[in-house]
Order: sequence, then structure tokens, then C-alpha cells
Amino acid sequence: MVQLDWSNLKFGYIPTNYNVRCYYRNGKWGEIEVSSETTINIHMAATCLHYGQEAFEGLKAHGCKDGKVRIFRMRANAERLQSTCRGILMPEVPTELFEEMVTKVVKLNREFVPPYGHDASLYIRPLLIGTSAQVGVHPASEYLFIIFVTPVGPYFKGGFASSNYVIIREYDRAAPLGTGRYKVGGNYAASLAANKIAHDKGYSCEFYLDAKEKKYIDECGAANFFGIKNNTYITPKSSSVLPSITNNSLQQIARDMGMKVEVRPIPEEELSTFEEAGACGTAAVISPIEKIDDLENGKSYVISKDGKPGPWSTKLYNHLRKIQLGEEPDVHNWVTVLD
Ligand code: PLP
Ligand code: COI
Repeated sequence: MVQLDWSNLKFGYIPTNYNVRCYYRNGKWGEIEVSSETTINIHMAATCLHYGQEAFEGLKAHGCKDGKVRIFRMRANAERLQSTCRGILMPEVPTELFEEMVTKVVKLNREFVPPYGHDASLYIRPLLIGTSAQVGVHPASEYLFIIFVTPVGPYFKGGFASSNYVIIREYDRAAPLGTGRYKVGGNYAASLAANKIAHDKGYSCEFYLDAKEKKYIDECGAANFFGIKNNTYITPKSSSVLPSITNNSLQQIARDMGMKVEVRPIPEEELSTFEEAGACGTAAVISPIEKIDDLENGKSYVISKDGKPGPWSTKLYNHLRKIQLGEEPDVHNWVTVLD
């Protein structure tokens, strides 16, 4: 086991020993290669550099009380990457290849999996890029699929603590029929300016309305939104939102706990009616929302009056964490256990 300050890890990059790679050439995927290089050597005219043929994923492996390592919803991540591949014309990474590579890279870097009890995990970052040269705007013929891992702490300082958001109208992260529902780098480039404005104004993160009408809730920075009222978990239906695997898991857990679940457009004004709300994603699991400001209209939607996470959010968070850590039965087959 490497010696790291497990309790004070940031959501940042720490080198580990190995990454795994697989090349797509001549219409097929090759053998899995293990590498300890942190760099990649690609053609300067590669499509990932010029035309954004780039996709990534993000999932986590958890060190558990019983000494085992549990990987959360690997198959769902494989399937979302396949959807992204169809969206930007890259060859799909087969589920079996994805799962074999994820499992392999976690095992190879076993000593970097944070031990139980530090609010830390091993973040797994699969990356698929078009590597062959192309000057016209066309898909590449060759691709590299690479997965690296890095130990991480909580995404937001304070972990499961409430955050403030600000509605930004000057920038959209994605268009209704654009790439918002795919996990491609361009969406994140499009979010950087809005994110900086939010930080400069003292907020944790920016909050997006739908790009077309600026009427409905889209996303909370790089996370999905949910609101809770009257025992109902409500989350936006939108063609520009990334289908979050955490959100999908929370919806299922909410149903399992007897809540109703609604996936529908949520008008901005409805924010004033929620008893609780949160941002959800792999990195933070749930980041409870204290308030959302609409500066242009002089409105402040205060969701958590005492600044604390609400009871449903806390229950959902704890339940999901316990499944990830093997402390609740894995009734939906979400977890891959490594001995
Ligand atoms: N929305 C965006 C834009 C994201 O980048 C992410 C992170 O992956 C999410 C939502 C949350 O998705 P997931 O729960 O699958 O991590
Ligand atoms: C998440 O995992 O919730 C994210 O938003 C990923 C981000 C670091 C790109």
C-alpha cells in the first residue's frame, strides 16, 4: 500500500503505476496493453485535437470494510460510452472490453485504492480519442481507448455539505439537439467560462437553464439536478442533459424507498417549491443545494433554510454510499466485487 494522506485527498490527479490501452485499427480492436507511460504519442492532425472526436467516462472503485474493492456500475458506464460513440461517430468499445480493462487497471493499481473510512475512492477515467490524421471534417479511421485511475477525495470541499449555485444565461453548455447528452470534451470547454463567472461571484458552481427558452432547469454545472417535494423525486427531462448514472441510481433507490419519481421539464419558478434539492454525479454523489440565485431577475431560491442537507437527500446519499461499499444488498446488480 502506498503512503498517501488518504483523508486529505483532493479531486485531483495523483500518478499511479499503470494505465491500460487498446487501439482500434483496420476496423477492429486490438489486444489490451499495460503501460506505465503517462503520455501518449499521436499525430498532430489527429481528429481528437481538431474536430473534438473525444469522449470520456468517469466511475469509481471503493475500498471497503471487508478489505474488498467494489466498482460501481461499470456496465452502465460502458453503455453510456457506446451512446457517445454513436453520437460522434467513433467505434463503440464493446462492453466486455470496457469491463475487462476497468477491472484490469484497478487490480494493477490496487495499492492506490484508498482504504475504507477516508471519504476517498479510486476515480477511473476511460478516454477514447480519434488518433489518425484528417484535415477534412470526417471521423478518424484509428482510435485509442485508454483508462487511467487516480485516488480522489470529495469533489467539493466539505464533502456532503450544501452549496450555492448561480443561474448563468450568457453561456449554454449544450444545445437541445447538440452533444449535451454525450460525454464529450467540447461540453466541458463550453462550460468553463460560465464556471469561472460563478466562482468569481463566490458560488460553488454555475446552474444552466435550457438553451432554447431559458425557462426550464437543465444541469448544475457538471452534474444533474434533482428536487424533492411531497415524497417525490423530480429531475429534468431534457435532450441536452447528460444521462447521469448517479441520478439513475438515485431514482431507483427513491422508488425502492417508496418515493414517487418524476422525470419531466421543471420550470425555473418551481425551484421555490422544493423542500430539498441536490446536484448529483459520480464525483460528489449528492451535493445538496442550499440556494440558487437568479441575479438578473433579483431572485434567490433558498432551498435549505438551515443550510443543512435535508432528510431525503441524506437518506438517499447514505443508501447509495452503502451499496457502493457493500454494506447494503446490491439488489440491482450494480457492483463488481474484486477480492
Ligand atoms: N452531468 C454532467 C455534465 C457530467 O459531466 C456528469 C459527470 O459525469 C454528470 C452529469 C453526472 O453523471 P454520472 O452520475 O454518471 O457521473
Ligand atoms: C462527476 O463525476 O460528477 C463529474 O461531474 C465529472 C467531472 C469531473 C467531469
